[in-house]
Amino acid sequence: MIESRWIWLDAKLVLWNEAKVPFLTHALHYGTGVFEGIRCFKTPKGPAVFRLQEHVARLFESAKIYLMKIPYTPADVADAIKKTVSANGLEECYIRPLAYYTYGEMGLNPLPNNVGLGIAAWRWDSYLGEKAEKTGVRCQVSSWRRVHPSTMPPQAKSTANYANGALAKIEALKAGYDEAIMLNVESLVSEASAENIFRVKDGVVSTPPASAGVLRGVTRDTIIRLVRESGLQFHRSDISREELYTSDELFLTGTAAGITPVREVDGRMIGGGEWPITERLRKAYDDVTHGRNPKYTDWLSPVTLQAVAS
Ligand SMILES: Cc1ncc(COP(=O)(O)O)c(C=O)c1O
Repeated sequence: MIESRWIWLDAKLVLWNEAKVPFLTHALHYGTGVFEGIRCFKTPKGPAVFRLQEHVARLFESAKIYLMKIPYTPADVADAIKKTVSANGLEECYIRPLAYYTYGEMGLNPLPNNVGLGIAAWRWDSYLGEKAEKTGVRCQVSSWRRVHPSTMPPQAKSTANYANGALAKIEALKAGYDEAIMLNVESLVSEASAENIFRVKDGVVSTPPASAGVLRGVTRDTIIRLVRESGLQFHRSDISREELYTSDELFLTGTAAGITPVREVDGRMIGGGEWPITERLRKAYDDVTHGRNPKYTDWLSPVTLQAVAS
């Protein structure tokens, strides 16, 4: 990991190695934290955070689901995110805000504890590997099912949900794959361990609906808009496991992973090993995130870099 200098912790900039929490922090023991993954991109007008408002709104929605009261307004959090990028002098970075129940009372009820907020930002170029965008990734359908709304809320981006994703990811890596695709308890495709999934068949693009247990990805929403705009047909529709195998193209979307083609699922090559529609959408996404599409500059929150010395 490429460390930066500062982490924003409860309204103060703290040196990276000094941003520590007590061992008995509630969230560490019981998974009572909610977080975001956001990116800042280089644009012709300087660094800008992509869809900052939407990410902050999702953070507050995740918190609401857990009855967690973040002790700042969404505008405060958006400002703090920009300040973290600025103080670290980062032109391009990944940003991780985390709201969590702090140290105080143990036991499952988190509500007596204060809620802390930390924001880290660091250089993280490629979540699924340097070559993934070009060569595509090999995926395994996991034996672990995606959490079901009757057990955990999949639409909350909570730390607890990521134990489910981590099991799937470990299983896929141990079996020699790059990423896991998770079905839901109805055996329909939900999403990858940390990305949403899209299918292309006969020129029609589709992605599972939120009811399939997916996180409503900001990148997913961006791609849906770009698909519609490009004149391609789009459906939000269930995808079966066999439809994964018979896709012309499959691709994963996420803030960390970007738009990544899937080359293979469970030993089956996807389509003819080429991904023209994925490539077209990836380019459109890159243009939007890097400020090269004037239609979407409202999605970019500029950051003025003012690196803070320690
Ligand atoms: C489980 C899961 N699904 C989907 C996504 C994609 O969401 P986004 O595009 O907002 O990054 C993520 C990424 O954080 C994720 O962890």
